[in-house]
Amino acid sequence: MTETTPHGTGSTTQAGIPAVSDRNSLTTGPDGAIVLHDHHLVETLQHFNRMNVPERRPHAKGSGAFGTFEVTEDVSKWTKADFLQPGKKTDMLARFSTVAGELGSPDTWRDVRGFALKFYTEEGNFDLVGNNTPIFFVRDPMKFPHFIRSQKRLPDSGLRDATMQWDFWTQNPESAHQVTYLMGPRGLPKTWRNMNGYGSHTFMWVNEAGEKFWVKWHFISNQGVEFLSNDEAEALAGSDAEAHRRDLFDAIERGEHPSWDCYVQVIPYEEGKTYRFNPFDVTKTISKKDYPRHKVGTMTLNRNPKNFFAEIEQAGFSPANVVPGIGMSPDRMLLGRNFAYADAQRYRIGTNFQQLPVNRPKNEVHTYNFEGNMWYDHSGDRRTYVPNSFGDSWSDETGPVDNGWEDDGALVRGAQELRQDDGDFVQAGILVREVFSDAERDGFVETVAGALDGVQEPVLSNAFQYWKNVDATIGERIEKAVKDNSKDDAVPGMGVEQGK
Ligand code: HEM
Repeated sequence: MTETTPHGTGSTTQAGIPAVSDRNSLTTGPDGAIVLHDHHLVETLQHFNRMNVPERRPHAKGSGAFGTFEVTEDVSKWTKADFLQPGKKTDMLARFSTVAGELGSPDTWRDVRGFALKFYTEEGNFDLVGNNTPIFFVRDPMKFPHFIRSQKRLPDSGLRDATMQWDFWTQNPESAHQVTYLMGPRGLPKTWRNMNGYGSHTFMWVNEAGEKFWVKWHFISNQGVEFLSNDEAEALAGSDAEAHRRDLFDAIERGEHPSWDCYVQVIPYEEGKTYRFNPFDVTKTISKKDYPRHKVGTMTLNRNPKNFFAEIEQAGFSPANVVPGIGMSPDRMLLGRNFAYADAQRYRIGTNFQQLPVNRPKNEVHTYNFEGNMWYDHSGDRRTYVPNSFGDSWSDETGPVDNGWEDDGALVRGAQELRQDDGDFVQAGILVREVFSDAERDGFVETVAGALDGVQEPVLSNAFQYWKNVDATIGERIEKAVKDNSKDDAVPGMGVEQGK
């Protein structure tokens, strides 16, 4: 005899048919076999097998929140971007992450943090996919997969490995500035709320008159910039791997809405050609003394995701998403990234990932790309080709693009042009000597020495030389510290992660 124990209105199959039981499979008698036509069981097991999508290759572990970006100043003399006009408020999404760790890795390993922003503007989505550092490890996209692989796992043991991390860094001396930053105090933010964000690359802005400027984006935390010590980070990695994810979620639930003031450094277009550092080299910063920061507005995060998978895991950010009034620059890394992200998302999430609510722009999409998996917001019987004789609108701009630059060289392979003050170790040396305090320098030596623990030759000697190239004294101090504590355990807080 059938007994029905309703719980609310019950559940359904994915086709909307009432599901008979979410607890008991259909069997031939109480101890008999399960039958294949128990469709609800089969569907439940099949869907479970497909519950996850591949994790992001870099930046797998992270979380985020929604909010608003409000323009408080007038930057219209530099950009015509609609969402950057005075008084504009734009809905947005932010996702923060670590780079090298996988989905379950601790939030407090020493690593660069992702600072990815999506602005749902009336002219389409603008994504600023930056980090908590104003620079990066390499300046050619060809090197990026090699870099990430060197920070991930060994092919045989599946373990992370300090020797291969340092091997990559020391073989690529342009990494010195970013590695110095990473091993310094800013390499371990206390929380995501307590770190700054940077667009890192130089981008273009174009105003209504067609004048062009080079800009660097800076998001400065209104919670104050605070860091963890190695000991604190290690303790948290063991006791609460989700410390940063939890901190952001709980703060927003409590009504404490974190905010960041947005600034830009603006370099007149022509000055970009002769500035003393190559502004299109993402391993370099632009001095604030040369180009001060100008405030644009404030971003405030005030709404947690309702569903982590749908709204954070399936979110796709891409540096290629720039709106009118903003453009690329000759920074090779930025140009390489234009291809990489949407390609990753078509593989990771699916061909039509842009139709998902978290990725869909607020304005109407009128595209001539059709169909593919999960084609949901279809276009009815609209013409699939242009030009057509039936009045379907399409675009046909010709002539120089408003956010372009001059580029008439021959095709070459080689390093970027060096400017007057360029050099792989120059800004790293300035950071160590002029920006770090005495106490920060001491902590830096201890962190690097700990991170070099167990590194094999010849990489260890290469690392000593790398740091002597940054600064002779700091290099000698690091070498001595490594030799002094060569028998000691790892520096707390570093684990086997980034730089250890
Ligand atoms: C040529 C160099 C680079 C390539 C090819 C590259 C590629 C990628 C790819 C494929 C992803 C995963 C995307 C996804 O699955 O949704 C990713 C994520 C990310 N990358 Fe890069 N990347 C590069 C350089 C950089 C740089 C220089 C920065 C920062 C300035 C950066 C910041 C990020 C961030 C923040 C994420 C996570 C985005 C999110 O939260 O979903 N990447 N990168």
